[in-house]
Amino acid sequence: MSERMTAPAIRAMKGGRIVAVTAYDAPTAKMADDAGVDIVLVGDSLGNTVLGFESTIPVSLEQMVHHTAAAARGCKRAMLVADMPFGSYQSSVSQGVDGAVTLIKAGAQAVKLEGAYVETISALIKAGIPVMGHVGFTPQSVNKFGGYRVQGRGKHAETLIADAKAIAEAGAFSIVAELIPASVAARLTKEVEVPIIGIGAGLECDGEVQVFSDVLGLAPGDPFKHTKRYATLYDAAVEALKKYAEEVRACRFPTDDNSF
Ligand code: KIV
Repeated sequence: MSERMTAPAIRAMKGGRIVAVTAYDAPTAKMADDAGVDIVLVGDSLGNTVLGFESTIPVSLEQMVHHTAAAARGCKRAMLVADMPFGSYQSSVSQGVDGAVTLIKAGAQAVKLEGAYVETISALIKAGIPVMGHVGFTPQSVNKFGGYRVQGRGKHAETLIADAKAIAEAGAFSIVAELIPASVAARLTKEVEVPIIGIGAGLECDGEVQVFSDVLGLAPGDPFKHTKRYATLYDAAVEALKKYAEEVRACRFPTDDNSF
């Protein structure tokens, strides 16, 4: 097995193409790891993709710890980053440090938090915890944005770039840029010294992050514009389960081959 990916190794990939994908438990993290991705992100998108919530807002620190510990058991080479959920860092620097420590103890190598919480980012780095930033559409602020909307258009580009620079200066080793115009992402990538990892941010970033279930087609319905389905596993799973149910009802399973 090749060497474990680390924060300094990812930081050194500025100008390259970093591959990141979310995963939420041991088997999905193992799949991503076996596929050779650089970063496995235990995203709070697990609120939507695994826990059945409408958004990431209800996700708790305890739930993140539970899923991070499971993903850590499946992830051996990729760098494991855990999201700090809504309400686990916004109140104070010490709240953020305490929450991040819990995620690191659960097996994460770094944490990701949304927005320009620069004091908290500095304190985390002082505590020995690498931080991934997140700008643009930050899902925990969906209520402020009034929906799932592209951010950083027009004059808002300057604020977004200033935030990303402040996050990098505070010591983040990389920054996720979500749902922003490709032209703004290109500027961000050029002007910010740490790797910019895009999602819905065009091709000119230093890498891409996508949600596991979007890449694999694990949910029914139309895909989001910023995603691409590389498989349609929801359909395949429903078909397989229908076949199983049919065979059980028709007494065609189990057979002698499955019996003792
Ligand atoms: O929670 C998540 O999955 C994320 C990615 C979309 C970057 O934050």
